[in-house]
Amino acid sequence: MIRIGTIVGLVLALTACGRNASDAPDWTAGLQPEQVQSGFDFLTPETQALQQDAFANPGYLWVDRGQALFMSAPGNSPACATCHAEGLPGVAATYPKLDQQSGALVNLEGRINLCRTRHQGVEALPYESEDLLALTAYVAQQSQGIAQSVSIEGALEQHFENGRDYFFTRRGQLNLSCHQCHDQNWGAQLRGDTISQGHLNGFPAYRLEWQSLGSSHRRLRDCDTGVRAEPLPYGDQRYIEVELYLAARSAGIEMESPAVRR
Ligand code: HEC
Ligand code: HEC
Repeated sequence: MIRIGTIVGLVLALTACGRNASDAPDWTAGLQPEQVQSGFDFLTPETQALQQDAFANPGYLWVDRGQALFMSAPGNSPACATCHAEGLPGVAATYPKLDQQSGALVNLEGRINLCRTRHQGVEALPYESEDLLALTAYVAQQSQGIAQSVSIEGALEQHFENGRDYFFTRRGQLNLSCHQCHDQNWGAQLRGDTISQGHLNGFPAYRLEWQSLGSSHRRLRDCDTGVRAEPLPYGDQRYIEVELYLAARSAGIEMESPAVRR
């Protein structure tokens, strides 16, 4: 939880700079491609070391659990591995994307649940359940080191724009947008935390504050709550659109899940 005092300081600093005085979003003021830097670069050396040590990084316990789920058949249904015998290398780096069959925008969690309902004939797993987190971590880990590359063409363009609008809109009692912190103030200190550029390339990630692995939506909810705004429900389409915007904004950055974050 971000302390109010520091936030007020930030608001004053932003106001003092006279930046973004109007509410009209200036999209060209966003992060430039050559500036893109992973959240990893803003961690302390200790946390970086923890992420890089596959034995000490608690995220790998989730990956192992996800692998076991991937290999096992739920009831009489085929296991994920039966259909995806080669695994899913590089796939997570291309999400969110459109589901060809329904035309809906889906993130990795949604895609996994589509396979459960459509191809395994079992129920979707609840968002933030341990099983869904574990399966997502297992699939995401297979994109580690691969550059994020989502499409924003065709029907995806509108979703991208919706996500961008969300990012640039001021909200909450503190009246701050994502853009003000993650485009305009990355590198600044906020309650002993260094504000990063707000990329999702490490998610699902193990957050020390959570003492758990958590999804990208849990992270977004924390940021919305941080400005005293009502967070969107898990799995909400608007958060998936934010995911798409963020993925396009950080194109070329390498996937890191399971990352460790503060
Ligand atoms: C009976 C076969 C079958 C099973 C079982 C199955 N899938 Fe799939 N999966 C598919 C097919 C076919 C697609 C292509 C999209 C579609 O037609 O739904 C797909 C697509 C995917 C994708 C997206 C691939 C891409 O390139 O975008 C992911 C991720 C995925 N599956 C994960 C899983 C996971 C995790 C499980 C187990 C919970 C699972 N699948 C179980 C058949 C299956
Ligand atoms: C008051 C400033 C502030 C605002 C506004 C804010 N965030 Fe954050 N955000 C943070 C801080 C602090 C962190 C934790 C340190 C870090 O990684 O940046 C964080 C973390 C993140 C991360 C995780 C980065 C990583 O590498 O783990 C993402 C993604 C993110 N924010 C996206 C958003 C989005 C999208 C919005 C708008 C809905 C938003 N943030 C609004 C301050 C803010």
